[in-house]
Amino acid sequence: MSSENPSANHTAPTATTLIHRPRRLRRTATLRRMVQETTLTVDDLIYPMFVMEGEEQKMEISSMPGCYRYTLDLLLEEIAEVWRLGVGGVALFPVIPEVKKDDVGSESYNPEGLVQRTVKAIKEAVPGILVITDIALDPFTTHGHDGIVDENGVILNDPTVEVLVKMALSQAAAGSDMVAPSDMMDGRVGAIRKALDSEGYIDVRILAYSAKYASAYYGPFRDALDSAPKFGDKKTYQMDGANAREAIKEVALDIAEGADIVMVKPALAYLDIIRQVKDYTQLPVAAYNVSGEYAMIKAAAQMGWIDEKRVILETLTSMKRAGADLILTYFAKEVALILVNRRAFLF
Ligand code: PBG
Repeated sequence: MSSENPSANHTAPTATTLIHRPRRLRRTATLRRMVQETTLTVDDLIYPMFVMEGEEQKMEISSMPGCYRYTLDLLLEEIAEVWRLGVGGVALFPVIPEVKKDDVGSESYNPEGLVQRTVKAIKEAVPGILVITDIALDPFTTHGHDGIVDENGVILNDPTVEVLVKMALSQAAAGSDMVAPSDMMDGRVGAIRKALDSEGYIDVRILAYSAKYASAYYGPFRDALDSAPKFGDKKTYQMDGANAREAIKEVALDIAEGADIVMVKPALAYLDIIRQVKDYTQLPVAAYNVSGEYAMIKAAAQMGWIDEKRVILETLTSMKRAGADLILTYFAKEVALILVNRRAFLF
């Protein structure tokens, strides 16, 4: 029925008075491809990856099937492979051994720390790929919070920002292309920009996690890093999922403080926020397709309840349609493999 033979367009005359027939443009695959409004490409994708100490090991994350913690040697192999497939950037998250954690996350700015060594090694092995490093204390603190905590359990803003600045400088010194504060402390983008500039790192970009919500969708990520908070929750710094205007307020502040790209996180339950942020700013907008969103698709696919590839493409396309210019996704490699032989896809 989808023939492009002109005679297939003709049926016997009828008495219809219907002028508009939107279905005309849906009749053939070629035409559908031509009128498609949003196209997902590998250029849109950033691959979040987990790195751990050791050699020649990769450990699957049980709540994220197909996603691994890699030792540096194997991480480099994986990065070389995704780079060949066209993925332009990786976002690094370190698994820090308990013995290196403390109350204030001092390992985060160790010049010889895991992240710093990893950045150097990637820049030597695959210089072209964009390396994005996370700025937040949670992988480095014994309590699992993103900031410094006082004796009453209060997360202290300004002392935390001082540590985040040290962390950003040490990552920049290691060769990070872009730092990504995911901590949600007030004023950290401005403090980091100022410090980077005064140390001569004027070209290190800031990808700001501007509208980051206190979300239950982060569960599998915290399994991956062993970083779940030991007490309380993150609601005094991450945003309330019911709020939209507040997202614009956070985005406006981060832009004023010098962010190069602003991000909305999570993505799937916040598509409306992505659209509002897109309409608000001329900066590129990123969306983080987070661990719980990945896990839901994987679980349903493993049960045989959904068509995994089509659901992945449909989901990521919805984020792009909502306004995301960039998508951080654990599906990056899978999508690159799907798209590599196709000029376009039709789900
Ligand atoms: C922590 C951080 C989190 C994620 C990225 N950076 C978790 C959190 O805020 O608790 C979550 C990513 C994901 O779920 O995929 N600063």
